[in-house]
Amino acid sequence: MSDFDLPQYLSERRQLVDEALERFLPAEHAPPSSVHRAMRYSVLAGGKRLRPILVIAGAEAVGGGAELVLPTACALELIHTYSLIHDDLPAMDDDDYRRGRFTNHKVFGEAIAILAGDALLTLAFNLVAGNAAQGGEARIICDVVAEIATAAGTGGMVGGQVVDIESEGKTITVETLEYIHSHKTAALIRASLRAGARLAGAKPDALRAITDTGDRLGLAFQIVDDILDVEGSLEELGKTAGSDERKRKATYPALYGLEASRARARALIQEAKLALRSLGPRGEPISALADFILERRS
Ligand code: IPE
Ligand code: IPE
Ligand code: MG
Ligand code: MG
Ligand code: MG
Repeated sequence: MSDFDLPQYLSERRQLVDEALERFLPAEHAPPSSVHRAMRYSVLAGGKRLRPILVIAGAEAVGGGAELVLPTACALELIHTYSLIHDDLPAMDDDDYRRGRFTNHKVFGEAIAILAGDALLTLAFNLVAGNAAQGGEARIICDVVAEIATAAGTGGMVGGQVVDIESEGKTITVETLEYIHSHKTAALIRASLRAGARLAGAKPDALRAITDTGDRLGLAFQIVDDILDVEGSLEELGKTAGSDERKRKATYPALYGLEASRARARALIQEAKLALRSLGPRGEPISALADFILERRS
């Protein structure tokens, strides 16, 4: 066992991210204030901040620091939060709770919730472009912008969400389930790790290892999310448990059962940690984050 102090690592980076998000989000009273209030309501409700922390960990794994990648780290959190606001809409998963409070549309109405999501997505790209101010080569920043756009769009998160919605209530193949999970969730998780590493000047070998890790962490993350939807509670999760069964969603437990789903998540985390070995001690935070993804209860 490593003596790496994950709780301290997480709390230090969460604090950096939360302070930066507070700075980057438009002020509540700035017009049009309704949408700014809605954006701040969901982003500042908390959440694990896993994606921004993975951006930072990706940079650190190749010798970079958090400050260098903070705008891009926040951008990934904004894209993720936008995806949650839209995911919860009545036309999608129709959920009432998120991050321990009412979902965005319950408080602000559907129109403002949709627009708050749109605004978070666009602000995110503003931040990635603005990462140039932290230094970093223009060419690398352009590549990172393009990669995040692909991971967020129909080649990634949106693509996965489309097939998720279209698969409700249907018997789906193993391939379709892999497609949904690797696109709706793993794409942004992988892009988070890779963006941090690329901005910090990762060499091809290190980037390859980080990419392999990101794919596996991302898939494991969604499998665990599916398991927690069966096993967790509103108090633990901050969102309604049992939502997947109600919507007859395509999930790992629905297709394989809980035990096989747990085994698959465990195996993916092992593979992710194996891929990190080539990075040496610098890969230790990501390795600890891999365990966290498996063992989390929320
Ligand atoms: C929930 O993500 C949605 C999925 C992609 C499974 P998180 O579990 O990371 O949600 P927060 O950010 O902690 O609220
Ligand atoms: C969400 O998957 C993936 C996203 C891109 C938001 P879920 O629909 O399972 O996420 P939760 O369980 O509502 O957080
Ligand atoms: Mg969903
Ligand atoms: Mg959902
Ligand atoms: Mg879920």
